[in-house]
Amino acid sequence: MNQLVDDAATSPAGGRRTVLDVRDLRVQVDTARGTAAIVNGLSYSVAAGETVAVVGESGSGKSVSVMALLGLLPGHARVSGTAAFRGRDLLAMSEAELRTVRGNGIGMVFQDPMTSLNPVLTVGRQLTEGLLAHGRAGGRRAARARAAELLADVGLPDPKGALDRYPHELSGGMRQRVVIAIALSGDPALLIADEATTALDVTVQAQILELVAGLQREHGTGVVWITHDLGVVAGTADRVLVMYGGRCVEDGSVDDVFETPAHPYTRGLLGALPALHDDDGADGAPAERPDLVAIGGTPPPPTDLPAGCVFWPRCPVRGDERCATEQPPLVPVRGGGPVPHRAATFYGDRLQQAEVGA
Ligand SMILES: Nc1ncnc2c1ncn2[C@@H]1O[C@H](COP(=O)(O)OP(=O)(O)OP(=O)(O)O)[C@@H](O)[C@H]1O
Ligand SMILES: [Mg+2]
Repeated sequence: MNQLVDDAATSPAGGRRTVLDVRDLRVQVDTARGTAAIVNGLSYSVAAGETVAVVGESGSGKSVSVMALLGLLPGHARVSGTAAFRGRDLLAMSEAELRTVRGNGIGMVFQDPMTSLNPVLTVGRQLTEGLLAHGRAGGRRAARARAAELLADVGLPDPKGALDRYPHELSGGMRQRVVIAIALSGDPALLIADEATTALDVTVQAQILELVAGLQREHGTGVVWITHDLGVVAGTADRVLVMYGGRCVEDGSVDDVFETPAHPYTRGLLGALPALHDDDGADGAPAERPDLVAIGGTPPPPTDLPAGCVFWPRCPVRGDERCATEQPPLVPVRGGGPVPHRAATFYGDRLQQAEVGA
């Protein structure tokens, strides 16, 4: 429990309103191979106007962790913890309340656009229904005009023509842009984007990132941005949360985590993208280049997580008995900037040892 108190005390939201506050989120699913512990005590918050990027290898629980917030997991998934959205716990809401929040308050874009689109309704209908339902457009005609404007904003060619098309008549990239337009149409307080721009070409991606940044400036939208693209993280996020085995193993400002990663896993992850470290540091000096460590092996399946540190079987540091038996808590890293920088390892060189030893 102390962990939760510490988290709240060091909330990076600072003076800004907290839009989303996730505490001790856990997701388990019973499978034929035993219980899969997919998300294991995840806590983070997102302030108004802030972008928190979530990174981590495939299977680390990124998608499941956000689907749990929105009540989109299959019924047999066991979800616990709290997730306050504008002060109300999403995890305690009824399906009807969640539907309202999903349409008006939280915008979401998932990896596969077809999961969010209704195949039997035209693009125009899907966009205008949301606009009309939330009173964001006068009448049907105004809603259509606004819908076309939104499609133009996400870079869809011939936006007016696209209004009368069905999802299957569009390419994958176009469908993804329609989903993004729908997600942004309600001026959401929170946007959850799961690999939202991965399939899009770089020009369109840049246009969409700019659009989201505009929404954040104008409406203070908080953003959770799940991506494999560390270039996008560096360019758009304020903070980054590194997930491994359903846990946060490191979080902090993008500058702190990218320039001086404390967790061996983060170092390995960043090492996979050496070009990223060629940027100059804020003071004009070259950024410190972390050891380029290729991470050998694969992540453990959620049905078979190691007892101690979830990363130790692959860890290049090769710790000791303690790593095999004890879970390292997230503790502050020394020497970072104003935003708390934390890592969950017994072998980060700049960890506040007093707390590690506690
Ligand atoms: N309904 C389910 N039942 C059982 N296991 C599941 C279920 N959904 C996801 N998982 C497992 O949970 C783990 C995390 O999945 P998740 O989709 O959240 O990963 P991810 O971090 O989003 O990966 P990627 O980067 O590939 O999108 C995976 O091992 C996956 O197989
Ligand atoms: Mg995913």
